[in-house]
Amino acid sequence: MRVDSMKIQIRNVLNDIAPYIPGKPIEDVKRELGLERVIKLASNENPLGCSSKAKEAMVDAINKSALYPDGNCTDLRNALAEKMGLKPTQFFFGAGSDGIIEMIPKAFIEPGDESIMAFPSFPLYETSIKLAGGICVQVPLDKNYCFDLDAMAEKINKRTKVIWLCNPNNPTGTMYTREQQDAFLQKVPENIVVVLDEAYYEYVTREDYPESLALLDKYPNIIILRTFSKIYGLASARIGYAISNETMIGYLERVRSPFNVCTYAQVAATASLDDEEFKMLSYSTNKENKEFLYNEFNKIGLRYLPSETNFIMVDTAKDSKEVFQALLRKGIIVRPGYVFGMNTWLRVTIGTKEECEEFVEALKEVI
Ligand SMILES: Cc1ncc(COP(=O)(O)O)c(C=O)c1O
Repeated sequence: MRVDSMKIQIRNVLNDIAPYIPGKPIEDVKRELGLERVIKLASNENPLGCSSKAKEAMVDAINKSALYPDGNCTDLRNALAEKMGLKPTQFFFGAGSDGIIEMIPKAFIEPGDESIMAFPSFPLYETSIKLAGGICVQVPLDKNYCFDLDAMAEKINKRTKVIWLCNPNNPTGTMYTREQQDAFLQKVPENIVVVLDEAYYEYVTREDYPESLALLDKYPNIIILRTFSKIYGLASARIGYAISNETMIGYLERVRSPFNVCTYAQVAATASLDDEEFKMLSYSTNKENKEFLYNEFNKIGLRYLPSETNFIMVDTAKDSKEVFQALLRKGIIVRPGYVFGMNTWLRVTIGTKEECEEFVEALKEVI
């Protein structure tokens, strides 16, 4: 039987959702283009890898492979609680923050409810809202590619259940300030959940960035999201966490599957928290190489968005599909802006100095 003649009836919502197309894997590009060296600057991973303590912890955990993981993530929960001065019950874990983003609408959105996000912002919010039967209300970024929090507040109505703020924002790398966030949160009725996605929190350099942890008592409706995929370099382990109050965490616990975070991820994350040196090295390397890329873009005369993350959005003034393909042929994988509705832009992850240099040389040739 031909697959396209199947009688299976899918949910209507699937007609409105495209499968996620990830950045091309390095090995595929090598094989397809016959290249020996390929650099991936497409998924905002840590170019330095991860902490050696995390690696050792994962190797040690190999002997536990036959056992289900600790469904409560007890050691990591306690370690984070101690580090942040919060209660262990204020944490919730997922297979990446992706895993938590998928669960939030399951807990808080009924079919027909509205959920507000910016555009462009992290695309998984939209998919997760729609899969729960919700209506995704997208509010364009302002002319500086920053969140337009006033416009987002204006979209709030009786059907609004969840609002997604991504700070700093992916794919633009831009941020809003502590004052802006506080002014916004004051406008949000307390029955609406506000997700503060802080995946790039550890890379932020600006002093006026919000300290959301300090707001947990003031705003019981916020859920803060952080991840071990970025500065901790554990993207493949799949582990992220949410911070809120016990009641909100209790709601999320009802939609979680029992063993959603694997043992390797748990032990690697816990060990990473002990390696401040690796984190600081990742932070300073990123800062230096960001400055390098800014300088190079300035020399070439390319507009870029000041970034508080480990990636930069740069406007090549050319079709991003073509620039992307041309860079690919030179062995450099970036994220073309058209996938975010920014047709002439590229999102490039800040790699090692060598990778950044190679990227700049290739970019000059391509454009
Ligand atoms: C803003 C934002 N949120 C969440 C995620 C998901 O990260 P992970 O599932 O690896 O924790 C990403 C990944 O790129 C991101 O950029």
